[in-house]
Amino acid sequence: MKPLKIVHISSEISPYSKSGGLGDVTRSLPRALKRLGHQVIVITPFYGFIKNKDWPLENLSARITLEFAGQKYRFGFKKIICPDNYPVFFVCQRKLFGSRQKGGSGMYDYPDNGLRFLLFNLAAIELIKILKFDVQIIHCHDWHTGLIPGYLKMKYHKDEKLKNVATLFTIHNLLFQGPEDWWKIPFKKRDEGKGLPTENLEKLELLNFAKRAIIHADIINTVSLRHAQELMTPEFGCQLDHRLRIRKKDVYGIINGVDYAIFNPKFDPDVYVNYDADLLEKKVENKLILQEKYGLEINPNVPMIGLANRLTEQKGFELIINLLDFLLKQNLQIAIIGSGGGIYVDILRTIKRKHTKKLLFVSPFREDIARKIYAASDIYLMPSRFEPCGISQLISLRYGSIPVVHAVGGLLDTVTDYNPKTGRGNGFLFTSYSSNDLLFALTRALENYQRQSTWQTLVRRAMKESYSWTLPAKKYIILYRKAIRKIKNQNLKRETKNHGNMKT
Ligand code: GLC
Repeated sequence: MKPLKIVHISSEISPYSKSGGLGDVTRSLPRALKRLGHQVIVITPFYGFIKNKDWPLENLSARITLEFAGQKYRFGFKKIICPDNYPVFFVCQRKLFGSRQKGGSGMYDYPDNGLRFLLFNLAAIELIKILKFDVQIIHCHDWHTGLIPGYLKMKYHKDEKLKNVATLFTIHNLLFQGPEDWWKIPFKKRDEGKGLPTENLEKLELLNFAKRAIIHADIINTVSLRHAQELMTPEFGCQLDHRLRIRKKDVYGIINGVDYAIFNPKFDPDVYVNYDADLLEKKVENKLILQEKYGLEINPNVPMIGLANRLTEQKGFELIINLLDFLLKQNLQIAIIGSGGGIYVDILRTIKRKHTKKLLFVSPFREDIARKIYAASDIYLMPSRFEPCGISQLISLRYGSIPVVHAVGGLLDTVTDYNPKTGRGNGFLFTSYSSNDLLFALTRALENYQRQSTWQTLVRRAMKESYSWTLPAKKYIILYRKAIRKIKNQNLKRETKNHGNMKT
C-alpha cells in the first residue's frame, strides 16, 4: 500500500512546547509514522517562549491575512526540521501567541482562548492550502484543534485540495472541551455545535470545540481502548457521552507509546547512575544519592514511593493528601514532584516541614528531577480519578519503579495486578476510588517489597516490558485509511446524487 501524507495539528509539541503528555505524543507519534515510511508534518502555534536563538528556524515567505469579527489578523509561518527529522510548521501571530508570556505560561492561561485557537485552526488550514504537500489526512489533537473538522466540512468542502481530506480527532482529555470549563457554562448558554462557529466574540469564548470535533471528524479516538468505552458512559463522558454514543461506530481507542530513546535509564543523562534490568545494584545508588541530596535518611532498604505528575484532582491528590500523614509514620519515604493547583502545594509544604527526613517535595515540575525520582523510587503512585492513557506509569515501569494505580482508562490497559503465587502482573491495582482502597493496594506493594528476591524479579520483568510507538503508529495508519475511504465514498455518493439531480 502507498505511504500516506499526514498532517498533525496540535497546540503543543515537544521539545518546543509542552505542558503534559500531549506534547510527548505529538512529538513521538509523527516520528513513529515517519519510520513506517509515511510522510508527516506538524503544525503548531509559535509561542513567545520559543526563541529564534535556540532553534534554526526558517521564515517562510508566505503570509496570510484572516478577517474575523471585523478585524484583520496577519499571520506568518516558520519551519524547522525537528530533531526527529520531520518538518514542524509554526503559525506566527504576535498579538494572539507571540506576545503572551506575561501573566501565564504563554500557552493557555488567557481569557480570549476561543479567538486565539479559532484563528489558529483557520490559519493552519490556510497554511495547508499553500504548502506543496498533498495531504490525505489531518490528525487533530484535543479541543484546541477541534474546529478544523467542521471547517473542512462546511467552509472548505468545495476546495479542490481539501475536499477529499479526511480528519481524525484524538481526545487526550475530555475534561477540557473549549476555552471555558464546560461545567461553568449555564445550560442555556451551551454551544449546540450547529453551523459554522460564531463571530460574536463573547459567544466564541463559550464554544465547545471538542463537541464540534466529535460531530464532524470522520473518525474519533482516545488514547486507550478502555477509555474509549469509558467516555461513552455518563461517569466519564463529561456530558459528551451521548454525542460519542451517537458516533459509536467511529470511536476507537489506541494506547500511547513511550519513546524509549528519550526515557531509558540505561542512557538517561539526568539520572545519577545509569542502569538497566541486569544492573539493579546500580538502581539503588540513585536512591542513596537522592536521599543525601534532599536530606532524607540515607538507607538503601527503606522503600521509596515516587510521584511525578501535575498536582491536580484528576491525578488523585485528594486520596494521597488524606493518607500522607499516616503513611509518613511508617517505614518508608515519599518523593513528590509536580506543578499545579495552589492548595496541594501549600498542604504538601506544610506536611514536608513535619517530616523532613521522609518526604521530598519539589514544585514546580522539573523534568530532570522527575527522572531522578523515577530512578530512585521502588514504587510509583498513580491513583488518578480518570486517566485516558497516562505516560508516567509506563515510564516508571521502564525505570523499575512498580506502579500502584487506580484501575481506570489507560492505567487498567497497561498495569496488571501482581500475584506473588504465579509471579504474573507488573503492578498493584485498586478499583474503588477511595483512600482506603489506595492504602490497601499500597500495603500489598510494600509487603511484596519486603521479599526482595521476588521483588527484584518483578522489577526486572517490568523493566523489560515494551510499550514502544511502533504498534500504536500502525494502528493509527489503519484508522487513517478508514477515514480516507469514508470521505471518498461520501463524496462519491454526493457527486453521483448531484449528477442524477442534474439529469432529471
Ligand atoms: C492527557 C491525558 C493522559 C494522556 C495524555 C497524552 O494528558 O490526561 O492520560 O496520557 O493526554 O495522550
